[in-house]
Amino acid sequence: MRESVARGLEAARVRTHRLTEFEDSALTTQHHRLMSPLVWDLAHIGQQEDLWLLRGGNSACQGLLSAKVEGLYDAFEHPRAERVSLPLLTPQESRAFIGDVRGRVLDQLESADPERLFPYVMVEQHEQQHVETMLATHQLRDGEPLLGAGAALPSGRVLPSDSVLVPAGEFVLGVDGDDEPWSLDNERPAHRVELPAFRIGRVPVTNAEWQLFIDAGGYDERRWWSEPGWVHRLEAGLQRPQFWLPDGSRLRFGAVEEIPTDEPVQHVSYWEAQAYASWAGARLPTEQEWEKACAWDPVLCRRRRWPWGDQPWTPDLANLGGDGLRPAPVGAYPGGASAYGVEQMIGDVWEWTSSQFEAWPQFRPMLYADYSQPFFGGDFRVLRGGSWAVGGASIRPSFRNWDLPVRRQIFSGVRLAWDA
Ligand code: AVJ
Ligand code: FE
Repeated sequence: MRESVARGLEAARVRTHRLTEFEDSALTTQHHRLMSPLVWDLAHIGQQEDLWLLRGGNSACQGLLSAKVEGLYDAFEHPRAERVSLPLLTPQESRAFIGDVRGRVLDQLESADPERLFPYVMVEQHEQQHVETMLATHQLRDGEPLLGAGAALPSGRVLPSDSVLVPAGEFVLGVDGDDEPWSLDNERPAHRVELPAFRIGRVPVTNAEWQLFIDAGGYDERRWWSEPGWVHRLEAGLQRPQFWLPDGSRLRFGAVEEIPTDEPVQHVSYWEAQAYASWAGARLPTEQEWEKACAWDPVLCRRRRWPWGDQPWTPDLANLGGDGLRPAPVGAYPGGASAYGVEQMIGDVWEWTSSQFEAWPQFRPMLYADYSQPFFGGDFRVLRGGSWAVGGASIRPSFRNWDLPVRRQIFSGVRLAWDA
């Protein structure tokens, strides 16, 4: 177990270095007002690792950085937009710092109690989440492409039908530490929930389908949009997904390319997702519906660890890990289907749900107590399933991501649902 935890930390670090092995100016520039300069993420990864693993979360105890420097990496103290103007560590200092922390962490891990490894995997997940954030920063960055075209992905296939029925009934929502030891606080505890019957899209909405919405004037017809969605649509001048160009091409990591018709649409906001769903005569799933369609086995009346069963992820089951640098075409993962036959729930694109981010009953904050709790009850919507950019231990059917309904620089897409 200790060895696999060390390998998880190492795999996250390989990705971190790959996204930050560029000349200093690529790291110290703020590429977009919504994002930190990459050098902030780089040192913040080490600062969090130092805090949770070397100091057991006790911030009163001095870490490897002085208190003054450490404070620069407090995400609550310094909003993303102002981080570029702080006296941050240089890229070279940041790399030395995170390497120093990691060396001490690996030494400590060798004699760690095998029953107390959760904080290590929590820190691994934190680093993987920032890797995804850094990928979003790369996508927003101007200038010569730095990341290449991405590894090959499996081809799509023609699908048997558009949606599947999930009959009414009880299921188990959420997980406990006994079953999912690396689950974060907001995924726990497991509890029974009763849902009416519903239908859910077999695969996410594609670029070709989104183009039909645009062609039908979907962005200009008030009736498809919610009140706040329409206000935002007008203010932001939305006309197409982010990174789509007016000539029908798109920008991906600095390169212009044709928009693949059968790829799940990404870079749409919650407000756009909702408008698309209304236009299509559908709605967004709730996160409860999403999780049931993903993880419930109606024959055995129990949860599966993954939609495809209990066996661990392999690259033929879902598009994860980030190497493809894009979603895979729909139909690419028949072997990854859930018990109900729903495909591509894990990986490819984060799927907007209609649910606001709230605690499950009997919620208890974890060691990193401000990971979830400060965000409950805010104006956040839950996203499920992870994107192509998600890596390591940072995704499960119970995993809950959240963001503001206007955000679309994240790798967000849409799956439809209907009342049955
Ligand atoms: C779970 C993706 C919403 O990036 O705001 C990283 C993850 N929390 N560092 C975020 C996170 C603290 C979080 N999300
Ligand atoms: Fe963080």
